[in-house]
Amino acid sequence: MDVISVIRTKRDRGRLTDEQIDWVIDAYTRGEVADEQMSALAMAILLNGMDRAEIARWTAAMIASGERMDFAALPRPTADKHSTGGVGDKITLPLAPLVAACGAAVPQLSGRGLGHTGGTLDKLESIPGWRALLSNDEMMNVLRDVGAVICAAGDGLAPADKKLYALRDVTGTVEAIPLIASSIMSKKIAEGTGSLVLDVKVGSGAFMKNLDDARELASTMVGLGSDHGVRTVALLTDMSTPLGLTAGNALEVRESVEVLAGGGPADVVELTLALAREMLTAAGLPDADPERALKDGSAMDHWRRMITAQGGDPDATLPVARERHVVTADASGVLTELDAYAVGVAAWRLGAGRARKEDPVQAGAGIELHAKPGDPVTAGQPLLTLHTDTPERFPYALQALAGGVTVGPAGTAFSPRPIVLD
Ligand code: URA
Repeated sequence: MDVISVIRTKRDRGRLTDEQIDWVIDAYTRGEVADEQMSALAMAILLNGMDRAEIARWTAAMIASGERMDFAALPRPTADKHSTGGVGDKITLPLAPLVAACGAAVPQLSGRGLGHTGGTLDKLESIPGWRALLSNDEMMNVLRDVGAVICAAGDGLAPADKKLYALRDVTGTVEAIPLIASSIMSKKIAEGTGSLVLDVKVGSGAFMKNLDDARELASTMVGLGSDHGVRTVALLTDMSTPLGLTAGNALEVRESVEVLAGGGPADVVELTLALAREMLTAAGLPDADPERALKDGSAMDHWRRMITAQGGDPDATLPVARERHVVTADASGVLTELDAYAVGVAAWRLGAGRARKEDPVQAGAGIELHAKPGDPVTAGQPLLTLHTDTPERFPYALQALAGGVTVGPAGTAFSPRPIVLD
């Protein structure tokens, strides 16, 4: 087999055979296929697509590139959730302990932020002492003792995806449905969860900007999960404006703790509960009551135990950025737009995110929202507070926000988008 013929097949809109797919994924993982050759193939896939059978084989080859975990020995059913990424999407933080409090085991392998979307591990690392890197044995122990663990995927899990995702990130080949679906599902299937709920984001702050693309991505991933025996469901959810009232690492941890304490912004609570119900149903626990677990303190108790088990101090003071800048409304009326992408890029420029995988993030950086779309505002009132340790970044963040915040005249008709679209 030679890689040039594989690239030519896809370049010329052909179908890759099972043998070509198995060979190219294996050869790339071993370093026999070079990055420049794989990036040419990824671009050909982005431009010319893959059919469902090709995607299924590509996913199976990525799973076979590494180890598979097995949670069969756990006394509880396993349920995991994956979000395709958004701005202010801190849902995993309250969700994992909440679902554990309701009786399922949640093996949540999470990632770091890249570009304008935040990463769960970066958020949790703002808690002093908390560790994202656990051995497989440590992960199993936390899962057995607490019922929920949030940690980085080990190097052995779908190593082909680790290499390929890093390559796609720097070659403009992330936004391809076959590559996104196979990347996400190879990790989730290799992880060994019994059931999986996908939160497929739609809107300016998401990979999928419209409902049709999001639906195709969701149905491709649900098909892959089901074919591999994972009970998989997907919700399509809104990412046209940030979730909750914060975007940034420690800021989002603080808001998640508010939700676990029975408060927090209504949209975060609504989505957390909707995903919890889907996870519990998929795990065979349809009668569990996640709303009660938020109110009676049991979800908070699981959060505290989970953070402590991973070396963190749930009572520690969270880091705060050294500098703040308040953005005020320049007119009275109705906030008609607070664009997720603009806020995500601004938070990233303030230091909450990274441009390259090896960059550090600032724990305290980010944005607090003081109003949400549909809220009445008066001229001069604070709309956003920008946080950073490096105030020379404020102009770049303000530039990113330009055009993303719109105040319409009083009485402007505004129809809120539901959080769960389908
Ligand atoms: N998240 C992933 O894990 N892979 C992708 O391709 C996109 C988002």
